[in-house]
Amino acid sequence: MNLKGKDIISIKDFSKKEINSILKFSKKMIPYAKGEKFTNILQGKVLSTLFFEPSTRTRLSFESSMNRLGGRVIGFADPISTSQKKGESLSDTIRMADSYSDVIVIRHPQEGAARLAAEFSEGPVLNAGDGAGRHPTQCLLDLFTILTEKKAIENNNVVLLGDLKYGRTVHSLAYALALYGAELTFVSPNSLKMPKEVSEECKDLGVEPKYTSNLEKAIKDADVLYVTRIQRERFPDAEEYNRVVGIYKIDNELLKYANDDLIIMHPLPRVTEIDPEVDKTKHAVYFKQAFNGVPVRMALLSSVLGGEL
Ligand code: NCD
Repeated sequence: MNLKGKDIISIKDFSKKEINSILKFSKKMIPYAKGEKFTNILQGKVLSTLFFEPSTRTRLSFESSMNRLGGRVIGFADPISTSQKKGESLSDTIRMADSYSDVIVIRHPQEGAARLAAEFSEGPVLNAGDGAGRHPTQCLLDLFTILTEKKAIENNNVVLLGDLKYGRTVHSLAYALALYGAELTFVSPNSLKMPKEVSEECKDLGVEPKYTSNLEKAIKDADVLYVTRIQRERFPDAEEYNRVVGIYKIDNELLKYANDDLIIMHPLPRVTEIDPEVDKTKHAVYFKQAFNGVPVRMALLSSVLGGEL
């Protein structure tokens, strides 16, 4: 697989074979991600991190990845401090970042912003989340987590829970899981159902997702429970948010219905949807999942910049 110079905008741009090879490369990166081994394969390279929306894990794990590969990072975590505030267009901001660095990571509140950025940048652009659209690098670390915890991606019954309408992580993940032929169950309040477009994509790949709002029932057959936060910032109306916030809560009481080897994932940040008492159970893998962002993003940065271990 040769990803050199390639943009990473949507997981749909990748074949299963390409995804498998990224996951294989990510595994090789683990000792480097942990600081047990050292490499300088991206020495002299510069990454721009352009975050027009809040982020903790995505930005810091990209920065950690670039540093661990011997590269350097420039960027911003808040557009208020940039010339966007003076009215500069996204395309001009991208042109600048492109001329100052070798690769761009962008997070933006508008769907399609990363695709637009890629049109104006000569160097590769990695989508770190575009509004309620897609989040391909999160998707790859989610797949990597399922693979390492469950030994395979296929043959799992995966329950995607919560805000399936506005949650970009689940839009990417549903498609990718369907590509592997995993079983999908979508659990959400009626007003936050998975967009039709995403369900259609799954069906086109031969996977018919099940829909329910009954979590107790869904959890009984689940191998993976992927929990999401209700995306408050995407609600046009606060009333609507107040109606659904707190609707699902994972706690030890609910886990009585779960399989012994159920894993619970969450892209984080969590708000109220997972009780901290669950953190100590063997089911909780969300902190490991967050760490997996580093080896996976190391593999992606090396691949698009042509670095080899
Ligand atoms: C997610 C995101 O930004 O879409 N966070 C992340 O990247 N780990 C999920 C969220 O904000 O709820």
